[in-house]
Order: sequence, then C-alpha cells, then structure tokens
Amino acid sequence: MRLLPHLMGLLLLFLSRGGLLAARDPIPCPSGSTALRWETFGETFFFRYCNRCHGWNNYTDVWTRKDLILEQVVAGNMPPFETVPPEEIDRLSEWMRCDLPVDGSCPTAGSEVTHDNFAAKFLEVHCGSCHWKSREGEARQGAPLDQNWDDPAALRAYALPIRDTLLRNQMPPDLGLSPSPDVDRLLEWIACGLAGLPEKRFYRRGDANSDGFRDITDAVTVLLYLFEGTAPLRCFDAADIDGSGKVEVTDAVNWLNFLFLGGTAPPEPFRDCGDLGRLGCEQFSGC
Ligand code: HEC
Ligand code: HEC
Repeated sequence: MRLLPHLMGLLLLFLSRGGLLAARDPIPCPSGSTALRWETFGETFFFRYCNRCHGWNNYTDVWTRKDLILEQVVAGNMPPFETVPPEEIDRLSEWMRCDLPVDGSCPTAGSEVTHDNFAAKFLEVHCGSCHWKSREGEARQGAPLDQNWDDPAALRAYALPIRDTLLRNQMPPDLGLSPSPDVDRLLEWIACGLAGLPEKRFYRRGDANSDGFRDITDAVTVLLYLFEGTAPLRCFDAADIDGSGKVEVTDAVNWLNFLFLGGTAPPEPFRDCGDLGRLGCEQFSGC
C-alpha cells in the first residue's frame, strides 16, 4: 500500500501537466512566414474541431474573429469537452501569428472568369469610386494614387493585396463584401492568373507609323491617313503629335515645324516612353 502516495503523485503530475498543456502560449510566426495555408490547414482544422457547433466554413468568418479564436483555443476553453492535440494548437498559433496566409486556388478545370466578362465590372462597381484613374483629390477618399484598378499594371502589381483585403473583408472600407459568390469569382480570376487583363502599352509621340524612327515619314503617314485613307494608323496616341486628343492636320504641321524650323517639341511622352494613351495604341515598336 506504500504505492498509493506514488500513484497520487503521478496523478497530480499528470493533471498539472495536462493543465499546463491546455494553457499553451501561442507560438510565434517562425521568421515571418509559414507553410501553413487556409486551404491546407485552416479549413480542415475548423471543420474537424469547431464546426459541429460553429459555422466557420470560410476564411472571412475566421479572419473576423481571429484574436478571440486563438485566445479560446490556447486557453483550452474551446472546443468544450474535447482536447485539441498540442501540436495542432501550435499549428493554429503559427498560422494565425503569420497572418493567416491563404493560397487561393484555381479550379483544376480552369476558370471562365475573365477581365472583360466579369472582373472589370466588379472592380468598377465596388472599388471605382476611390481606386480609379479618373478619381482625383478628395474624391479618392484616401485611396493611394498608384492603386487604380482600371490600370492593368496596378492590378497586376496589387493582385495579392486585393485578394487579401477582399478575403478579410477590409475593402471597400466599412462595408466588406465577403463572403459572396461575386467575391469568389474575383478571387478565382486572380488565382487563375488574371485572364484577359490587357497588356501594358507604351508609346511615344511622333512615331506615327510605328517604325521605331521619328522622321519626315511620320508627317507623311499622318497626311496620307487624313487625306488619302491609305495609311492605317496602328498607334493613334503616337500620331497625336501635339497632344490635342485628336489626330489632325496640325499634328503633321507641328511635326514638320519641330523637325525643320525649330518649332516647339511635342508634349510628353515624347523624350521617354509613356503609358496610358487616350486614343489607343494597337501596335508600337519604338519602346
Ligand atoms: C460542442 C460545441 C462546440 C465546439 C465543438 C466548439 N465550440 Fe466554441 N462555443 C460553443 C458554445 C456553446 C459557445 C458559446 C459559449 C459562450 O458564449 O459562453 C462557444 C463560443 C466560442 C467562442 C466565443 C467565446 C466568447 O468569449 O465569445 C469562440 C471564440 C469559440 N467558441 C471558438 C471555438 C473554436 C476555435 C472551436 C474549435 C477549435 C470551438 N469553439 C469549438 C460551442 C462549441
Ligand atoms: C471609399 C473608398 C474606397 C473604396 C470603395 C475601396 N477602397 Fe481600397 N483603399 C481605400 C483607402 C483609403 C485605402 C488606403 C488605406 C488602407 O489601406 O486602408 C485603400 C487601400 C486598398 C488596398 C491596399 C491595401 C494594402 O494592404 O496595401 C487594396 C488592395 C484595396 N484598397 C483594394 C480595394 C478593392 C479590391 C476595392 C473594391 C472591392 C476597394 N479597395 C474599394 C479606399 C477605398
């Protein structure tokens, strides 16, 4: 019977270790990143341990209560009457402390969603009141100047922040859209590679015939286009030499003036290549 105290001691040790395990410190994000993702970890975790009672089936639901969730799980309060294995708690901590990374997945069958059949309209309707090139000053309501979702280059550069802000219900500010089938379509479009997003185009004024040189033949091209209809213009922006917003006879006249009589140079983009032409540029080889 001298075993009894030993057994009691062991039991106490077991209980206290159990208690210690339940109240784990959340582990930090290992050197800033993790291999864990919503798709490979988060979704399964909530399905397995929480969704018998809660309904957190999507990223947005989890994101909006992330601090409370981590707190309740590391304290051992949730799920009730069940213990989550410590290594699973650590994985949850790691994933959450690394800012809940997500992959976004493109369906294996591919996607039908394109820029023209969906994304452009979605972005205009939900984001265009702030993130649009034509929005200036106060009208932007604080949206950063380089973040215009009608600018293909900006869309390409910010695709992942756009995905994240949508998933996290942070945009549009104060009236998140997630989760919704439309947001899912936009996320699919991003995950599948932004199908149909127009290529960024550069041009330079003066090279009206897009041959890479700026010379007298450009004035001739403009005149032939205007009066003979025999020279198709492939880059109207380049042919709009004086930057008036139209291709007209003054473009040819000003160009000749500049070349031979010391007249004023065309406005930019002239010395350097520039983007965002207003008239269109189907083909330009000089940039
Ligand atoms: C068996 C059912 C059940 C399971 C499984 C469960 N919960 Fe809960 N949870 C509840 C109930 C019931 C409440 C409300 C209790 C309350 O408000 O005191 C709750 C409340 C919560 C709250 C809110 C607590 C607060 O202070 O408002 C969080 C966060 C939570 N659960 C997280 C989780 C997580 C994370 C999981 C999975 C790891 C989980 N729960 C699994 C039943 C469950
Ligand atoms: C009412 C104006 C407004 C609307 C509408 C709006 N945004 Fe924003 N957006 C902002 C402001 C202000 C900021 C900069 C401050 C910030 O990051 O919260 C911003 C910043 C962003 C950023 C950068 C965040 C980062 O992490 O750098 C992204 C991405 C973004 N918005 C995406 C969107 C998308 C996508 C939509 C449409 C679904 C949208 N926004 C609609 C005002 C708006």
